[in-house]
Amino acid sequence: MINLSIPKTAGCLLIICLVHINSIVKAQNSVKEPVVQEEKINSLLQKMTLEEKVGQMNQYNGFWEITGPAPKDGDAKKKYDHLRKGMVGAVLNVKGTENVRKLQEIAVKETRLGIPLLFGYDVIHGHKTLFPIPLGEAASWDLAAIETSARTAAIEASAAGINWTFAPMVDITRDARWGRVMEGAGEDTYLGTKIGLARIKGFQGDDLAANNTIIACAKHFAGYGFAEAGRDYNTVDVGTSTLYNTILPPFKAAVEAGVQTVMNSFNTLNGVPATGNKWLQRDILKDAWKFNGFVVSDWGSGMEMIDHGFAANLKQVAEQSANAGSDMDMESYAYVNHLKELVETGKVDIKLVDDAVRRILRVKYKLGLFDDPYKYCDAAREKELIYNPAHAVAALDVAKRSIVLLKNTYVKGSGRPLLPLAKNQQKIGVIGALANDKNSPLGSWRIGSDDNTAVSVLEGLKKYSSNLTYAKGADLAIGKTDFINEVKINETDTSGFKEAIQLASNSDMVIMVLGEHGFQSGEGRSRTKLNLPGVQQQLLEAVYAVNKNIVLVLMNGRPLAITWADENIPSIVETWQLGSQTGHAIAQVLYGDYNPSGKLPMTFPRSVGQVPVYYNTLNTGRPGPKPEVFWSHYGDESNKPLYPFGFGLSYTSFAYSNLVINDANPAAVKVTATVTNTGKLDGEEVAQLYMRDKVASVVRPVKELKGFSKFSLKAGEARQVSFTLTAAELGFYDNTGTFVLEPGDFDLMIGGNSVEGVKGSFTLK
Ligand code: BGC
Repeated sequence: MINLSIPKTAGCLLIICLVHINSIVKAQNSVKEPVVQEEKINSLLQKMTLEEKVGQMNQYNGFWEITGPAPKDGDAKKKYDHLRKGMVGAVLNVKGTENVRKLQEIAVKETRLGIPLLFGYDVIHGHKTLFPIPLGEAASWDLAAIETSARTAAIEASAAGINWTFAPMVDITRDARWGRVMEGAGEDTYLGTKIGLARIKGFQGDDLAANNTIIACAKHFAGYGFAEAGRDYNTVDVGTSTLYNTILPPFKAAVEAGVQTVMNSFNTLNGVPATGNKWLQRDILKDAWKFNGFVVSDWGSGMEMIDHGFAANLKQVAEQSANAGSDMDMESYAYVNHLKELVETGKVDIKLVDDAVRRILRVKYKLGLFDDPYKYCDAAREKELIYNPAHAVAALDVAKRSIVLLKNTYVKGSGRPLLPLAKNQQKIGVIGALANDKNSPLGSWRIGSDDNTAVSVLEGLKKYSSNLTYAKGADLAIGKTDFINEVKINETDTSGFKEAIQLASNSDMVIMVLGEHGFQSGEGRSRTKLNLPGVQQQLLEAVYAVNKNIVLVLMNGRPLAITWADENIPSIVETWQLGSQTGHAIAQVLYGDYNPSGKLPMTFPRSVGQVPVYYNTLNTGRPGPKPEVFWSHYGDESNKPLYPFGFGLSYTSFAYSNLVINDANPAAVKVTATVTNTGKLDGEEVAQLYMRDKVASVVRPVKELKGFSKFSLKAGEARQVSFTLTAAELGFYDNTGTFVLEPGDFDLMIGGNSVEGVKGSFTLK
């Protein structure tokens, strides 16, 4: 939900903002399914040569930006030549109305059949105006806000000529070492599914034929989030139950919600690369789920089957991919070079090619590209909508909702916690390179945007206080940092410590902004450590030695193991990478103009050795604890996480009571509880419903999120929350992939996180 109160920090004209935001929201009200005339597709298909059909299945990267390893066979001259011959169906990484129009004109005016191109782009968390990274947004648990974020991204991207985003990533992941945790919604299938759907709705809107909606892409199908040891692109080896119950459901829901494209993935699953996996793409996605959009390969994932040891050469790649149901080849050059011959020699049935082309053309018809191929190429619209002030207002709103208060304890002698900060101009020292960084808060997946455009934390804080002084303490990264190269972290230079320690000694309190560089998470950016990188821990301890009144503002793209900080620092705020409006959002939360309401979408470990650590684990046969050693545990660390899934504090407090279960109708079991704001401030809470199916034919997790609701409560106010459990929530997939509902005992809990709450149980008859 957009809060329309304009923050004093947002410098935009109120009227423009309101009018434009109304139009953002209005686009969601009327449902309009595009009517696609299959006869039109068939008659076009009949006119196409085999080469032109293969052309529709070929996607080229634009010629000046890359989001993967540089293409070996990618010279621009050849690509233009192919474009003119109708051998290209889509491009990626081309943006801006002028550039898009140039290529679209070639496709429409110079090719024999004039079939328009699709223009794909990684619009991951905003296009120019950046919203929080998806993991951060997920922490808002605010589906309306998340939908608005995607809607706004679609408005900006479509204004820049783009009609297809490679988002949302709906990969569930339990491993914080994996750099791409920043791109998804975290560890939980229920939450991740709801968020994926909100994002698809935001991107695709209700009318694909409109000029401000774009097609979405559920990725990466499937299992990519389970890369072994969190190392990107690594082998995936998951059991059947995890695949059916944890990994596949967000994709199935996306298909049911009308997502137009699905991207396969780099990894193998049971030894078969996803791109060559017929079982995943044909048997499950297209046959069982009746997906009628198209599958795009991941960047070069076809040709990577050679490195996997699945295909001997590119020709075999083309054969395997086409037969397995990968409809469009992104940057492998397999189809464009070999598919024609494979059809002619009977290795690939023409019916499969026709099916792929039909799917691609159907999407182009749905987008209205045959009616107006230049509908996204309006330069005046581009000028008006890129960085439109209303988008900054929306980005700020989502950003502040994404912040999670992790700790806020009373400080000795002051009688209150450090947060919210008093607005009495106490002397504040601000320390840490990230405080003065306008780039890192943008995260790593923001290729469409502009570097150094975030409001820094320092800039945000300065709007509230003139009595603050900044000292960097230490650089976080060394040298040039960008999307393509590894970030070099400063591991040795502590020359700025002296100044920071002096500042801390002379300040009433200190705000330390520490965490990860913006390019330390994202694709190809896995870590073995989950600490504060470089010399930051050392800096934190050095400052703590002279001033214990520290608010630690974390800025990072993944859960961190900050056990020392949790034990010693009085107040800790998780801010992820919040995008363009970072500094304003953080300042509003620190100064209490917005009462934090975020909850963790992913467990924070105590130490990296616990990973993967997640809340919805199966019980073991030896759960313990036991006095002797023979139970499932570590000798040197607790089993418990540092902060559990669903956890997040507020400046007020909430109490849960009175759980009531009404199971009179087993098809719709009603569960209610009372939530009371027991503190002195108004605030927002996310009530969460967890369930355990106690005995089942396939062992079920100790807890599973099955419902949540975010709402505001005035100080002292109470309300009832209510959830309904139907077969969809109570059942599960057995090991044949069949959804089953088994009678028996269920435990339930409603609370403000995955650990605490009011409990009850019932028997499903
Ligand atoms: C990523 C995809 C992305 C694609 C195109 C790949 O490297 O895995 O998620 O959409 O590149 O940029």
